[in-house]
Amino acid sequence: ERPVDELIASIAVDVPDFPEPGVLFRDLTPVFADAGAFRRVVDALTEPADVDPRAAALSGGGVGFDVVAGVEARGFLLAAAVALDAGTGVVPIRKAGKLPRERVSADYELEYGTATLELHTDSIRPGQRVLLVDDVLATGGTLLAAIALVEQLGGVVTAVSVVIELAALGGRQRIAPHPVHALWTT
Ligand code: PRP
Ligand code: MG
Repeated sequence: ERPVDELIASIAVDVPDFPEPGVLFRDLTPVFADAGAFRRVVDALTEPADVDPRAAALSGGGVGFDVVAGVEARGFLLAAAVALDAGTGVVPIRKAGKLPRERVSADYELEYGTATLELHTDSIRPGQRVLLVDDVLATGGTLLAAIALVEQLGGVVTAVSVVIELAALGGRQRIAPHPVHALWTT
């Protein structure tokens, strides 16, 4: 069977100069549109909390996860599929102003200005083990804010799964010591 990183790399489409000159955008939409590739990606995203010893250490010896949290918007495509695959529920980490009830908020930096992510306070119970899912790890700002939300509610992020890690941007270092499970590091 073809390694999942090769599979993703062969189907993803590189878009030069998007969203601005000098940036190479890795478009994953064709990967998710391909039934076989989507199956492989979802299976691979589900793996890490069961096998990563650092995840076990962070969760106090336990492994696995009790719930999947997905980051709006592209993370939603993956998180629900991962949760269904793993037999857990899924909770949404949303951009500001979308969640109607009591919530926690965390700011993160964009290239110009800041943005805010939010999570309903009853989405995570203290001690619950969380698999955090998004499509891309770039600077790590988004996932760092998402981790902060889970931890504000007493949740334990046992693993962070992404399809692509853009290694040059240092996201892995930024969210350390939380282990990142990236299917394709480029
Ligand atoms: C993109 C991507 C990740 C994030 C990674 O989301 O889906 O969530 O950027 O960047 P970072 O590691 O530098 O924080 P974005 O908010 O641009 O758009 P989306 O709503 O389409 O997911
Ligand atoms: Mg996103």
